[in-house]
Amino acid sequence: MAHFAALAGLGSYLPPRLVTNAELAARFDTSDEWITSRTGIRTRHWATPGVATSDLAVEAGHRALKSADLPLEPGAVDAVVLATTTPDHPCPATAPQVAARLGLGTIAAYDIAAVCSGFLYALAVASAQIAAGQARRVLVIGAETYSTILNPADRTTSVIFGDGAGAVVLSATPDADRPGVVLGVELGSDGSQQDLIIIPGGGSRERATPGSPDPQGRYFAMQGKKVFAEAVTRMGDSASALLDRVGWPVESLDHLVGHQANIRILAALAQRLGIDEERAVVNVDRVGNTSAASIPLALSDAAAAGTLTAGSRVLLTAFGGGLTWGAAVLTWPHLNVA
Ligand code: COA
Repeated sequence: MAHFAALAGLGSYLPPRLVTNAELAARFDTSDEWITSRTGIRTRHWATPGVATSDLAVEAGHRALKSADLPLEPGAVDAVVLATTTPDHPCPATAPQVAARLGLGTIAAYDIAAVCSGFLYALAVASAQIAAGQARRVLVIGAETYSTILNPADRTTSVIFGDGAGAVVLSATPDADRPGVVLGVELGSDGSQQDLIIIPGGGSRERATPGSPDPQGRYFAMQGKKVFAEAVTRMGDSASALLDRVGWPVESLDHLVGHQANIRILAALAQRLGIDEERAVVNVDRVGNTSAASIPLALSDAAAAGTLTAGSRVLLTAFGGGLTWGAAVLTWPHLNVA
């Protein structure tokens, strides 16, 4: 019997510390006016020292399981997939710890590294595990603590990125037409442009040596202008290719949930796709760019606000370091959002 992966639970978590543009303007040579007009961001949340990505992932995962009416016990799900750029440690992966802390037993648990596209990559592999009959239910989490890798001397990245986590439960169904079924996924990459978004140090390219490594190489670096242009083109083209493949005319879409990087990127993306800007879900103003957590956080906010309603056609698309990008489509299901 064929299996399809359907969205069955959704949850999110933001660390409590709210960082305003005014606070950043007191620390950097920047202003609320510059940040708001160039990015649309007004606030973001940053984890306090000592709080790691797994802490946020556990909270969001717990809420998604609750939303799916699943207990915190072995058997609730068959796998945990965690998309992150900021794992608790370079080794091992963070997902096994999250699975253990949620009480989910000794199940498959692994991380996905695709930067801001990570959640869509995780959604793709989790759906494929379900379609292959390897899992009946999978907890898919996007969680980040970018505040731990931001260069304190870089005003541009410091004003853009925020911390947070979002999670979904995917559940197997034999019914391809059931609302919530992930109807199609499109993924892509261009490693020839890896330098546009990079943490240069801390990997095998920089061999570990006695003495402390240069902290400069551990910071996140980005070429903003080039990234902006690539983001619009790649998300637009991958979304168009997917819509063609599943046979959804762009006019039939109810909501565009694009990676929340910059309000101007979202506007340019809507324009490129020919989608009314009103249909674009926006929470970047409140949370900033939360990388792999961006899409599930936006979904969670829009569902809680009553924007995403059962039966509406939803397009997800993301772009990030790698370069990587992707898109997915689904019809929104009935969900309790936690
Ligand atoms: N405050 C004030 N000025 C700033 C600033 C800040 N926080 N950050 C950069 N600037 C300055 C630059 O130094 C530059 O000054 P200069 O002209 O004297 O050199 C000026 O603002 C314009 O910079 P520019 O890069 O041309 O601005 P922009 O309109 O392209 O906006 C970004 C910059 C980073 C906001 C924009 O390129 C962007 O959003 N890129 C995508 C970022 C992103 O979301 N990446 C992740 C996607 S996965």
